[in-house]
Amino acid sequence: MAVQRRAPGQGPRVNSDLPITDLHPTPDDITGDVLRGLSATPKRLPSKYFYDRRGSELFEAITRQPEYYPTRIELALLEARGAQIAAAVGPRAHVVEYGSGSGRKTRLLLDALDDPVAYTPIEISRSALTASADRLDREFGDVEVLPVLADFTCPVPLPAPSRAADHALVFFPGSTLGNFDRAESVRLLAAMRDTMGERGGALVGIDLEKDPAVIEAAYNDAAGVTAAFTLNLLARLNRDIGSDFAPDGFAHRARYLRNEGRIMTTLESLRAQAVTVDGQRFAFAAGEQMHVEQSQKYSDARFDALVREAGLRVVERWNDPLDWFGLRLLRRGEPLAGTPR
Ligand code: AVJ
Repeated sequence: MAVQRRAPGQGPRVNSDLPITDLHPTPDDITGDVLRGLSATPKRLPSKYFYDRRGSELFEAITRQPEYYPTRIELALLEARGAQIAAAVGPRAHVVEYGSGSGRKTRLLLDALDDPVAYTPIEISRSALTASADRLDREFGDVEVLPVLADFTCPVPLPAPSRAADHALVFFPGSTLGNFDRAESVRLLAAMRDTMGERGGALVGIDLEKDPAVIEAAYNDAAGVTAAFTLNLLARLNRDIGSDFAPDGFAHRARYLRNEGRIMTTLESLRAQAVTVDGQRFAFAAGEQMHVEQSQKYSDARFDALVREAGLRVVERWNDPLDWFGLRLLRRGEPLAGTPR
């Protein structure tokens, strides 16, 4: 495949011939996941199914709500700390992004880094992968874009850039890690350790523990966008797997569990009702809480222990002035407890 190399500012052009590496990820079994979740006690639905087209739009809208601080702070951090991040990461990185967000964070990172060699978004959805890869390719003509269709929770062999990279840098912003439970988080981080390689690193965004009122407000915005986002899951399932959730039969609830340091989002059944999925009937009691999302908030102790379990260590920390959100640079190896950096 020919290298895409254009001088910056050459102007946008559509480029649909990016060489996608297809690792043939196992497609999601939505029906199976939903049947399993509804058979569990308490009932649950996987939060990864929030992000259909409408769900992704609603999430973008959430990031613009005044109460939802994480996105704003993380963008500001990337901007304010760009030079320090670049110095700690080192030149000629192959940047590997887990999932594809709006692209704003990627742009800030690539702009800040010293001579990034290549950019690899890893996505399980081909349409999302192509869209983000094309967007980045148009903007960063001198960064080789090498998209990979894969499940980033598994180790991913990276495509080799035409110009040799010095190391890989996995970028996992947004505190998306917080949506995985602890065991899943350790597995994901261990896979990340594998993907980044011996000399690699990872830049991970984490939402930090803080005043519970601030956190609860972020997941209960006054305009009701988060509630619409949560309820869209039911509409999405009704459309895609033929379930018959009554959209007005459930309400969004988000509570901060102080001891566990996490937001738990549920859909509360507003009445006794039944839902049929794939011919199976599930009864809901009035007031029953179906778990749909968790969003972990981290202390340094909690996060350090988590990454250590995956064979990683925190080598740099950047927080905003209020310590509400943080970026962490991770590398392989054993942590040196208490060692000044
Ligand atoms: C996917 C981690 C960015 O947990 O804060 C936002 C998703 N859910 N509001 C989060 C979400 C409700 C979000 N992240």
